[in-house]
Amino acid sequence: MTFCGLRVGLAEGLEVMGLSPKVVELSSISAGYARQEVLSSIDFSLAEGECCAILGENGAGKTTLFKVIMGLLIPWSGCVRILGRELDTAGARGWARRQIGYVPQARSDGRLPIQVHDAVLLGRWGTSFAGLRRPSSSDRQLVIETLELLGLGELALSDCRELSGGQKQRVAIARALVRKPQLLLLDEPTTYLDVAARDNLPELLSTIRRELGLSVLVISHDAKSLGKVIDRAVVLQDGTLYSAQV
Ligand SMILES: Nc1ncnc2c1ncn2[C@@H]1O[C@H](COP(=O)(O)OP(=O)(O)OP(=O)(O)O)[C@@H](O)[C@H]1O
Ligand SMILES: [Mg+2]
Repeated sequence: MTFCGLRVGLAEGLEVMGLSPKVVELSSISAGYARQEVLSSIDFSLAEGECCAILGENGAGKTTLFKVIMGLLIPWSGCVRILGRELDTAGARGWARRQIGYVPQARSDGRLPIQVHDAVLLGRWGTSFAGLRRPSSSDRQLVIETLELLGLGELALSDCRELSGGQKQRVAIARALVRKPQLLLLDEPTTYLDVAARDNLPELLSTIRRELGLSVLVISHDAKSLGKVIDRAVVLQDGTLYSAQV
């Protein structure tokens, strides 16, 4: 696409000037399922280090937008760029997924006995170990650091089935962070949390931003519950993104 061609030049120009490209850049994205269009000609960008909330009613297309950003759903038209790279091939989409830590909306509690440490270690599957390649000592060190960052150090040997909703939430975030992503996507992180755990989320996100300098997109029904940790918010309505007051 011509406009994408122009953006290649722009991204390269910025790099030469020492300025990093946008972490996420969506240009005229239309996407959906079968014949149902969910996203209509969306333009959006997320700068490095920025934290943006995505608001919208049930079924508005928020999770669909995440799928497009992760290269899991190929848009009907438009251009997706992650860290300046266009997701126009299967290789580029696989690469993008390795730059992204994703905390999904629906989480199954799991019935198998697995320790918190091992559940988080699994987040590195497909990065430094997979198949016959075993986790290294640096994988394990990274798990310990991530557990400490999220206040889970003392629960490292606990059985995941015995954790509270808020603790499970932290484990899910730790599993996403241990991949060392550049971008963190959180889909409705407050859904399963009680009021106390919900109140802790902004502080948790602030720590993550301060310590890791990550760019964050967080889907929420309620921007107020995120407090001051977000820089801005957009609302998805009728397939289009609008700026929102927070
Ligand atoms: N895999 C799928 N196949 C077909 N239609 C789908 C699929 N996933 C979602 N949809 C439809 O796309 C629309 C947007 O769904 P999406 O899950 O993106 O909404 P959402 O904003 O995340 O909603 P919620 O707040 O309930 O999580 C809905 O109408 C939904 O039924
Ligand atoms: Mg959703």
